[in-house]
Order: sequence, then structure tokens, then C-alpha cells
Amino acid sequence: MKYDFDDIADRSIDNARKWDKKIVNKKFPGIADDFIPLWIADMDFKAAPEIRNALTKMSENGAYGYTYPTEKWFQSVIDWQDKKHNNHVEKDWITLGYGTVPNMHYLVQALTEPEDYIIMNTPVYGPFAYAAEHNNRKVITVPLILKGDRYYLDFNKLEDEMKAKHPKILMFCSPHNPSGRIWSQDELIKVAQLCLDNDVVLVSDEVHSEHIMEGEFISALRLPEKYMGNLVMFTSPNKAFNLGGLKLSYSIIPSEKLRNALRKQYLKNSVTSPNVPGQIAMTTAYNDCGEWLLQCESYIKENLNIFEKSINKDFPEWKLLKMESSYLPWIDVSESGFDMHTIANNMAINAGVVVGIGDDYVADADDFLRFNLGTSAKLIQESMDRMAVEWRRMKSNK
Ligand SMILES: Cc1ncc(COP(=O)(O)O)c(C=O)c1O
Repeated sequence: MKYDFDDIADRSIDNARKWDKKIVNKKFPGIADDFIPLWIADMDFKAAPEIRNALTKMSENGAYGYTYPTEKWFQSVIDWQDKKHNNHVEKDWITLGYGTVPNMHYLVQALTEPEDYIIMNTPVYGPFAYAAEHNNRKVITVPLILKGDRYYLDFNKLEDEMKAKHPKILMFCSPHNPSGRIWSQDELIKVAQLCLDNDVVLVSDEVHSEHIMEGEFISALRLPEKYMGNLVMFTSPNKAFNLGGLKLSYSIIPSEKLRNALRKQYLKNSVTSPNVPGQIAMTTAYNDCGEWLLQCESYIKENLNIFEKSINKDFPEWKLLKMESSYLPWIDVSESGFDMHTIANNMAINAGVVVGIGDDYVADADDFLRFNLGTSAKLIQESMDRMAVEWRRMKSNK
């Protein structure tokens, strides 16, 4: 390997929330100092050396003034979407934003009125609901159907809710967080058709599309032309290249009407120029770091192997859903004899391993835990070993 993923970054320098003792201690009072955080979804790997070099050059130059989205940045997005995802994107369709979550908030403000409904398949990433609730809009949740180790969309319920409550937007997570499920072309077409038939704008959040463990990711931008007028695609390099703190993202919106509505909302809030390191890092990631991303993906696959082996051997009562993308395994503990809070609490306090709890995912995740494989193989192995000891203790004390 050209890049060393065993050599993780010192996360105290960027004040990483997931490693912050004060924050973790609030959630799990009394946690030991040597805890391993497998919760918040950023990775501990150092960013690609190409990105670090570009930021060092910028830093040493010493100028961080007002800027604008450059031609080079637009071209890097067009090229990345083409070579990585087979997406044809025109420059006009791209709008720079300050993060996918802020983008969702602005879009809700742009396309809906207070008390309007926004629909989503649950469980799903918490901020999907915040974008509605923070703006006094109402949320319709349509539970995903769990069959075996995969989620499926409930098209009948989606359609019923669309017809009954006339939501304005479907917030769609593709690939799905939590779980990593990749939606097939047929599934995407059914979703897009339902949206079109019921006058619901399809918002496809594709931030988890860059690390693929199994199968093929298909962007909503690859759907037939007739769906393009009703589509907003949000993404960023933040998950893939670990740039979340740089707070940059973008939308791709083929419809002039929809993108002008979002841009008008930007104008009202003076969302204009990018931050300097964000633009440099994103451009470098897309132009020069494809190989780093592939090696990162391989490293995560190895971590998934370690994780899966340990689940099969030491946690037979836990069910790992098939993780087709990203680095965040999702575990069903409904058959384990313990509730998710008890498990998470015991793992934090007695094993010193902090995991994500189903509560964070809008709805329909009462028996789930989420883990984070974006760290060194050594820490993954140590977490699993520590948790196995605690799990045996919990079961024997029952
Ligand atoms: C589904 C989903 N969308 C968006 C984000 C955040 O994206 P960004 O860093 O571009 O704001 C996350 C982060 O965990 C996510 O899981």
C-alpha cells in the first residue's frame, strides 16, 4: 500500500467530538480515560498526503482572504462525478454549499411552507428530520422493511402517505445511513416515479456513495431524463476523504427552477464564497486522491472482516446487516436479550468502547447499534476483544 492507514491522526488537535472526554463523559458518566470511540461518523485516518500538502502550501503562503468557486473547482466536480459515478453533470447544475445538512435546511426553506410535510424512510440520519423540525415543517416516517440482513423500501406505504398527506419533499438517503444499503436501479426508478406522480421533489443525499464494499452504487443522476426535472442531489467529499470539519459541499440540480429556488434562499442568507481550505481540499481530493480513496476502501474492507469474524464468534445473538457501502456497520440487537441502551452503556463503562445508539436515527431503530470502522485495524481488534469479554460477563450475570 502506498498510504499508511495504521498511522492514525492525533484527534485532540482538531478537537474531534468523538474523542472528547467531556462530551463522551456526558453521555456515559464515569467512562475510563482509555475509551475507544466507535460512534460519530468521521474517520481517524490522516487525510491524503496530497490534501495535507496542498493545505500546508496554503498555510505557509499565509493568505486566507475572500474567494469564489473557481473554474478548477467546478471542473473537479464534473470530472469526479463522471469518472467515479458515470454521471453527466453540467457546470450550471452545480451549486456550492456549506455542508449537506445546511443544504437540506436551505432547501426545506426554499421549497416548502411551515406545516408542510416532508417524507423519509426510517431509520435514517437524524438531521433529515432536523431540517424539517427546525423549520416548523412536519415529518412523515415510512419504516423500511428489514428482511434477513437487508432493508427494503415499503413502496405501498410511501405511496399511501404521499397521496394522503401530500408531502413536498422526499429526503432519500442513497446509499442508506445507517446500514450502508445500496438501492438498485429498479428501486430508484420506483421511488422517482412515485415522487413524479405525487408532485414530491426527490432529494437524494449521496454522501455515502464513495466507499463501496459490495455491489454497484447508482446515482439518482443516472435515472432516465424524465426524472431530472424533479431531482436535487446533495453530496460532498467529506465522508470519503474525512473533510467534514472544512464545511463544504455541493448540490447538483438539473432543473433550473429548483436550483434557482435554492440559490434564492442562499442569497437571502448570503451563502456566497467558499472557505479557502475547504475549496483547496475538495479540489485536491477530486483531482489527485482517487488512489488514496481506493486504498482507504480496501483498509475498511479488512476492518469489516475483523469486525464480522468477531461478531460471528463472540456475539452470535447480534445480527450484522449487510454493509454494502461506507464504514458504519449497523447491528440489530433485538434478539440479544438486552436493550440497546443497556448494551451501549455497559460497553462504554465496562469495556471502554463507545458505540452509536439507534435513538439518533429519526425513528424505527429501537434495537440497533452503529459502529465506526474508520480507524486503525488495531483499535477495531482491541474494541472487539474488550466488548467480547463484557458481552460474556453480561450474559453470565443475567
Ligand atoms: C446521510 C448523511 N448526510 C450528510 C452528512 C453530512 O454531510 P456533510 O459533511 O457534507 O455536511 C452525513 C454525515 O454523517 C450523513 O450521514
